[in-house]
Order: sequence, then structure tokens, then C-alpha cells
Amino acid sequence: MIDLSVDIKGLKLKNPVIAASGTFGFGREFKEYTNLDMIGGISVKGLTLEERQGNKPPRIAETPAGILNSVGLQNPGVKAFVKNEIPFLRKHDTKIIANIAGNTIEDYCKMAEILSDSDIDGIELNVSCPNVKKGCVAFGNTVAGISDITKKVRSFCKKPLIVKLTPNVTDIKEVAMAAESEGADAISLINTILGMAIDIHRRKPILANNMGGLSGPAVKPVAVRMVYEVSKSVSIPVIGMGGISNGDDAIEFMLAGASAVMVGTANFINPSACVDTAEGIKNYMKMHGFNNVYDLIGSLELN
Ligand SMILES: Cc1cc2nc3c(=O)[nH]c(=O)nc-3n(C[C@H](O)[C@H](O)[C@H](O)COP(=O)(O)O)c2cc1C
Repeated sequence: MIDLSVDIKGLKLKNPVIAASGTFGFGREFKEYTNLDMIGGISVKGLTLEERQGNKPPRIAETPAGILNSVGLQNPGVKAFVKNEIPFLRKHDTKIIANIAGNTIEDYCKMAEILSDSDIDGIELNVSCPNVKKGCVAFGNTVAGISDITKKVRSFCKKPLIVKLTPNVTDIKEVAMAAESEGADAISLINTILGMAIDIHRRKPILANNMGGLSGPAVKPVAVRMVYEVSKSVSIPVIGMGGISNGDDAIEFMLAGASAVMVGTANFINPSACVDTAEGIKNYMKMHGFNNVYDLIGSLELN
């Protein structure tokens, strides 16, 4: 018997694979293409306090081995999510993680309060958004910013709290340790890497928003390195992501210290990427004689 279950500080997953926020809608969009009951959890599209229309198109640009996106958090708002999406997701045997974003810390706190009283299993804090009260520097870009937001949201959050780090920092370890010391139950990383692509004939950026976030296989080595560094620096569980398309990719992150993984951009190419990744992890464990997934987490030996 191979045991794939993991416990992320009270968030109990039957397997360590979660659909990454923004790449799997509210699950409903993938229902006809994959078996939602075989995915450990779903981190839903980033929610804001009020509905958002998102940025003007083009919002996606293809790049070598990845995509740049600047969707701008298009979503129906947290209250519509609670009313219309949780009942659908609850019919499935998968954990519901609400990913939240905002312009101010007050927005995040209000959402954490609303969601703490709803039927979800965890909250993931997207700190890659600009703080409009602090010169539009992203909350997660500084140690002070991440400490402040984690501390305040923690006081409103009654669910397992995952703080999702932005890789657009000089020292990822510092920000991870700050989130841990202010009460995060887990860290997830990486969000997208800031990038730009230019249409040389129009002499303009391809994305209407000029810049966007890079994701997909192109970012995987950066993500694995950061997951390794963070896992060595904190004692709370780490959820790794960035370019995972299959079980072998996921195993790299788990050997580097991730207790669970998220699959993002790969869902656009293969809607069953999450299920296939879980199956791939199981096959690897079978091949290498692991019965319990915890035996492989962080078991990397450096040269
Ligand atoms: C189109 C798109 C939309 C995204 N939206 C969100 C979001 O709303 N909230 C969030 O925390 N991350 C968002 N992300 C980031 C992903 O969850 C993930 O961190 C990143 O894409 C790296 O993983 P991947 O390479 O497997 O896609 C988005 C990514 C993409 C490609």
C-alpha cells in the first residue's frame, strides 16, 4: 500500500497535488476534462473583495517553454465565490483552497474573515499584489511588507493559512522566515517571475499591460532552487510550484523539500496534468520502494 496523503498543518490532502491558482478556474471549468475527485486540492482563481473585470487583452503571450500573463485578477468577488462556487466544489472529493488578493491589508483581512466562516479548507495569501497605501510596492517584496500582512491576516484567519511567495525578491529565505514568524501555517512558492515580451514589428510590448508574470517549464529550475532554500530555512510545510507538468517534475520539488506541489500552466496543455502528476508520484514511489510520501520529502543529498 502506497500512502500519498499529506497533512499541511490541518489541511489534509489525500495526495500531494493541488491545482495552482489562476490556472484551474473554480474547478467547474475542468470538470468535463478530468476527474476532480483524484486531485488533492484546488486553489481557486485569485479572489478580491469586489468583482474585477481584469486587464485589457492581450493578457497572455507565449514564450519559449512558458507563458507570460497579465490577467489582472478577473474574478466574481469573494461573496459570489462563497455563494456560487463552494457548493459545486464541495460535491467533489478534493480540498478547497481560497486564494486571496487585494489592494490594501484591510481588503485581505475582510476576505479572511468572510472565508473563515465559509466551507473551505484553507486560505492562500497572494502577496504579489501592489499595496496601494505603500507606493504600490507588492506586499511580498519586502520583509516588512510580508510580516505586516501575515500578522494582520492571521488574526482574522481561522483556517490553515498558506502564504504564497513572489520570486521577485533578492533573498527568498528572508521573506519565508518572516511569514513563518508571523503565523503562516505553510509557505507556497513560486508565483510568476516578472517578465516582458516585445512585438518587434509594432515596437510595442505584446501584453496590453506591458509586463506580466512568467510561468511554465521555463521557470522550473528557479522554482526548485527557491523551494530548496526555503525548505532549509523554515520548519513549516512548503508547497512547491513552477513549471510542474508531470510526476517526475513534482518529485524534484519534493526531494528539494516540498510537502506538496501545485500544477499550473501545464493544465492549459493537458487538463489532466494534476491527475497525471499524482499518478506519476505514485509510480516513482513504487519504482523506488517508498511506501510513505514523507520518506521522500526533503531526502535530496547534495553532491
Ligand atoms: C494565467 C495565470 C493566472 C494566474 N493567476 C493567479 C492568481 O490569481 N493567484 C495566484 O496566486 N497565482 C496566480 N498564478 C500563478 C500560478 O498559480 C503559479 O504560481 C505560477 O504560474 C507558477 O506555476 P506554473 O509554472 O506551474 O504555472 C497565475 C498563473 C497563470 C499562468
